Amino acid sequence: MADLGQFGKPKGPLGKFFGWMMDRYNKLEHVETIKSLDLQPDDRVLEIGYGTGQAMILSAEKIHDGKIVGVDHSITMFEVASRKNNNWIDRGIVELHVGDAESLDFSQSSFDKVYSIHCIYFWTQPESNLQEIYRVLKDKGTAVIAIRTGKGEVYQKFTDTNVKKWMENCGFKNVTIRRLGKRKHKASVIMGEK
Ligand SMILES: C[S@@+](CC[C@H](N)C(=O)[O-])C[C@H]1O[C@@H](n2cnc3c(N)ncnc32)[C@H](O)[C@@H]1O
Repeated sequence: MADLGQFGKPKGPLGKFFGWMMDRYNKLEHVETIKSLDLQPDDRVLEIGYGTGQAMILSAEKIHDGKIVGVDHSITMFEVASRKNNNWIDRGIVELHVGDAESLDFSQSSFDKVYSIHCIYFWTQPESNLQEIYRVLKDKGTAVIAIRTGKGEVYQKFTDTNVKKWMENCGFKNVTIRRLGKRKHKASVIMGEK
């Protein structure tokens, strides 16, 4: 497997520092993604690539009888997010796993909502992972993918229009793009329904 770097698979003390940077610079996408999901108190929600678990705190605040499940392949991020969310974990609202977006260890139709923020760029087969998201979503469930947009090489492949097209190829309906930010910090939230 290719080296994903500290943003793609944070590891050790340097990985924790990269996590700190994600918290600092990704707030807009965290807030806007959670807003798009319109979370309900009894929703079962999956977050893929939770990083330090900062967006998950925003989700957990909206859930009472449901659950937020997280999957990230970095053990360092699992440790950081577990500490940050320990209150929600103790209350049974948050459940964190180490795992890979390529193969989600959940049965089909397990979740009302699935989201992933700044993670898709590290997927070697994005359409196949989006198909996994489609599989674990319940009928009429919602998926949100949030990405940064810009001029860099990675953003040439992972454009919002490409993500929309991949989601439609997987069967998602009513796929919309919401563009956020300005100048150096532009992002898009792409949302679709099963
Ligand atoms: C750039 S960070 C973004 C973290 C967080 N979502 C945020 O917005 O701050 C990408 C995260 O996705 C995780 N990740 C990347 N590829 C993954 C995969 N195939 N399966 C699970 N997690 C993955 C990384 O370990 C990392 O924590």
